[in-house]
Amino acid sequence: MNSTPETTPDLLDKVTNLAKRRGFIFPSAEIYGGFRSTYDYGPLGVNMLRNVKQVWWRSMVQMRPDIVGLDAAILGPPAIWAASGHLETFSDPLVDCKKCKERWREDKIDGVCPNCGSTEFTEPRAFNLMFKTQAGPVEGEGATAYLRPETAQGMFTNFANVLSTVRKKPPFGIAQIGKSFRNEITPQNFVFRTREFELMEMEYFVPPADADEWHRYWIETRRAWYVDLGIPEDQLRLHEHAKADLSHYSRGTTDIEFAYPWGWDELEGIANRGDYDLTQHAKASGVALDYFDQTTNERYTPYVIEPAVGATRAMMAFLLAAYHEDVVEGESRTVLRLDWRLAPYQVAVLPLSKKPELESVSREVLELLQPHFMCDYDVTQSIGRRYRRQDEVGTPYCVTVDFDSLEDRAVTVRDRDTTEQVRVPIAELLASLRERTGQS
Ligand code: GAP
Repeated sequence: MNSTPETTPDLLDKVTNLAKRRGFIFPSAEIYGGFRSTYDYGPLGVNMLRNVKQVWWRSMVQMRPDIVGLDAAILGPPAIWAASGHLETFSDPLVDCKKCKERWREDKIDGVCPNCGSTEFTEPRAFNLMFKTQAGPVEGEGATAYLRPETAQGMFTNFANVLSTVRKKPPFGIAQIGKSFRNEITPQNFVFRTREFELMEMEYFVPPADADEWHRYWIETRRAWYVDLGIPEDQLRLHEHAKADLSHYSRGTTDIEFAYPWGWDELEGIANRGDYDLTQHAKASGVALDYFDQTTNERYTPYVIEPAVGATRAMMAFLLAAYHEDVVEGESRTVLRLDWRLAPYQVAVLPLSKKPELESVSREVLELLQPHFMCDYDVTQSIGRRYRRQDEVGTPYCVTVDFDSLEDRAVTVRDRDTTEQVRVPIAELLASLRERTGQS
């Protein structure tokens, strides 16, 4: 078997096509011609996206006594966004091409219109990226609401609630996963930049003097998370923002960048937000958002270290890194080498034929595995074709039930990456798959 990782520019097309063809990601409202860079996650995509969020939650909340979760509202009053600085500064420079009238983000086009090649543009003007709407049936003053452009503010506005209910003290964190909305001027590259996306963010509150150390800690911890989940180290790099490029709240930001088919670009940002947000909200709301340390008799406003990544963008990076084309026994195949924790299906149960006697053992095997693994069950087409279909969607293990299974009560387990097949008694199947996935 020879295997070459895909680094060609057409990788994005290949993954986009596979995602559509195999039910990962569909363009939204497709029967109406699609809708402005929004996407729907199909039967396989929703499994994978849930897995991405689950592994993040596991590492950020379940395995961390110092971090708790939150699920805050998406709609918020203008007061939050005035205090956070988003109303004033969360904008991109918008320019219009004077020739073809297309609108662009000035900082993304290098002075040349990507549509018609013209170099003549209007003066840039600030375009606020927040979606504005109205809460309740009456328009006007007091009814304005915004869809959150980041989940972070919910963690800051609930800082005192969380502190008083879960008895944590700095250093401690609040984590949240949820939909966020940005009216991006130029959404692009499949689900890399969309107007509606899911964010996974954690605000880690620390004594100010320890902020730099915690910043370094979270940069390395988050980089290691991607490597553990199968992204090769050489497809990741760190990029420290220049002071001039920092967001309005940041004292320092380092991005984890991924080698996308179009080059290095942001995967996750890890910012030191200082005491900016808690101070702003305390000032605007009149509610104290600080911490009194009884051991030192000191009152201080914690600094915040924030790792933030789009679940949808992370899923795309995992898909791109997993995509391989290789040759098995003289036949080429496409294989997604996804970590089993991310794969839409972890096991596929495949009866060799549609004969009823095989079906009943196969159902028994399915029922044995289903409580423990996300399973697919597929009876159509030749077994070779079915293996290829499972390889293409990244299923790590296929379990084949054949006529011998009726006699010896054993099945064949096939490994996606090596294509090796071994015979395993049904009585030992669950333990065997648990061992293969490092769960025992
Ligand atoms: N609370 C900090 C914050 O929101 P950000 O750098 O604007 O920081 C964090 O966004 C992460 O969210 C990015 O690194 C990226 O993974 C993801 N992200 C941002 N905008 C996105 C968009 N329009 N579509 C998909 N993901 C996006």
